Amino acid sequence: MPSLNTINHNLNDACQLLQTVSPSPAADASRLLCFVLDCNSAHLIAWPEKELTPQQAAGFAELLKRRLIGEPIAYITGAREFWSLPLKVNQDVLIPRPETETLVEFVVDRFAERDGIKTADLGTGSGAIACALATERPQWDIVATDISHAALQIARSNANMLKLDNIRFCQGNWFEAIAGDVFDLIISNPPYVADDDHHLAEGDVRFEPELALTAGAQGLDAIQILTRQAGDYLTADGWLIVEHGYDQRSAVQDCFLQGGFEEIVQLTDLASLARVTAGRSPGSQEQAQKEPAW
Ligand SMILES: C[S@@+](CC[C@H](N)C(=O)[O-])C[C@H]1O[C@@H](n2cnc3c(N)ncnc32)[C@H](O)[C@@H]1O
Repeated sequence: MPSLNTINHNLNDACQLLQTVSPSPAADASRLLCFVLDCNSAHLIAWPEKELTPQQAAGFAELLKRRLIGEPIAYITGAREFWSLPLKVNQDVLIPRPETETLVEFVVDRFAERDGIKTADLGTGSGAIACALATERPQWDIVATDISHAALQIARSNANMLKLDNIRFCQGNWFEAIAGDVFDLIISNPPYVADDDHHLAEGDVRFEPELALTAGAQGLDAIQILTRQAGDYLTADGWLIVEHGYDQRSAVQDCFLQGGFEEIVQLTDLASLARVTAGRSPGSQEQAQKEPAW
């Protein structure tokens, strides 16, 4: 009689159960079983008839229970890849999203490696943006901030794990964390979901910290603070680069215009939706006449 405790059997059972709660049941089942067996997905494909030990089977059942009540895979496994970097995550931080790579890509393409470029990542969460930039631009001097002490602990531990020594961490409410300093680049993926957005009650988002998600009635409170105040913390030739919601393109453009930013550009994600807005410092005109642009 065929065993009921093989890799294949466990995967099939899990996949059926997860169909009711997950948009990607097969991938979730595979990810959780890999986590329990400490292997990669190729191992599951190569050894479908291999038996799980009773401990492995019990461990898998436990994780499956958590996924069945909706807990995100990244929180269950404590890990999420961003910009090909393995990052540690927990419920104190937003799970880094692929669309945030659009922001990193823009910064890396537009601003070359050069000694002493000062960059601030405001609301760093897991440290995803700061770690990606520190990896790509080891000569930059990066400050990563967050109002959440717990989030900063995760960000710091990710930077240590990746052996990145060009990031400093500061706790504080937006610009309070960098008071008295000026930067060439201020970058942020701030909270930008409207307080009553129905998505907050759906899927993985239910488990993420509210502090990382919501920003007032229109979801624009944090972006307004950033665009109003960034000019005081940017060099004359500096840039503010902000991620925002897919439906906030024109509202965010207005915020940048009201903040006096120039050369405003808006970048689309893989789904062709504008998700990142960047603008040059309000004080950049006179400086641009003295120095070449980036
Ligand atoms: C959308 S999450 C972005 C996290 C990370 N940068 C990323 O891209 O995955 C927003 C972050 O802003 C932080 N935050 C919220 N309010 C803040 C404030 N007033 N000052 C500084 N950081 C704040 C949250 O704790 C959270 O880590």
